[in-house]
Amino acid sequence: MELTVQDIVAWIEKANEKMQANKKYLTTLDQEIGDGDHGINMARGFQEAADKLTENDYPDTGAVLKDTAMTLMSKIGGASGPLFGTAFLKMSVAAKGAETLDHETFKHGLEEAVNGIKQRGKAAEGEKTLVDVWAKMADLFNRETDFSADKIADEAANAMEQTKDMMATKGRAAYFKERSIGHMDPGSASSQYIFAALADIIGGK
Ligand SMILES: Nc1ncnc2c1ncn2[C@@H]1O[C@H](COP(=O)(O)OP(=O)(O)OP(=O)(O)O)[C@@H](O)[C@H]1O
Ligand SMILES: [Mg+2]
Repeated sequence: MELTVQDIVAWIEKANEKMQANKKYLTTLDQEIGDGDHGINMARGFQEAADKLTENDYPDTGAVLKDTAMTLMSKIGGASGPLFGTAFLKMSVAAKGAETLDHETFKHGLEEAVNGIKQRGKAAEGEKTLVDVWAKMADLFNRETDFSADKIADEAANAMEQTKDMMATKGRAAYFKERSIGHMDPGSASSQYIFAALADIIGGK
């Protein structure tokens, strides 16, 4: 795997397309166990990020990821903005100065992203948050060195599906206690779109 600056820009653009297309769906999920703003938050943040990336030139992959992080952090808002922002910021630190992102760098960046989200959200796996998708993806990159786009997309979809059976203990959904069981976590659904977009980019290469 070798991702160029252009690939990272394409990744964020693709993720944005998915957020726009699924804005209503994400909001519906958040209406069930939250306040119904997640689709709006994600669509706004990713639109801003995609716009910003196409307007600028970047010397390396770390710089693209950093600009993405800053935009997501300030534009998504809510509880999840700082979490997605932290994820991309940690990846940008790992990719600092790297013209292309190879498997090792991406794997390390993803690990750091998971640690950053956990720390920022004071959340662990199994609490029905976006940590559940990001941690599973970091595990996948740790486990495999050679994988297909399908593997990435499948792993993200499985991780998202698994949040249905969990009881939320973090964020707004935690107020629903047992009643949160049976509903998919909105932040895991949007995270799944981010990795499905990555799979599209890797699959198209
Ligand atoms: N402490 C946390 N740690 C990890 N993820 C969290 C945490 N709190 C919320 N999340 C994730 O954020 C998602 C909700 O994001 P959303 O954009 O809807 O923010 P919000 O909860 O409505 O924030 P606010 O209450 O500030 O409006 C959840 O589905 C969950 O995945
Ligand atoms: Mg919400």
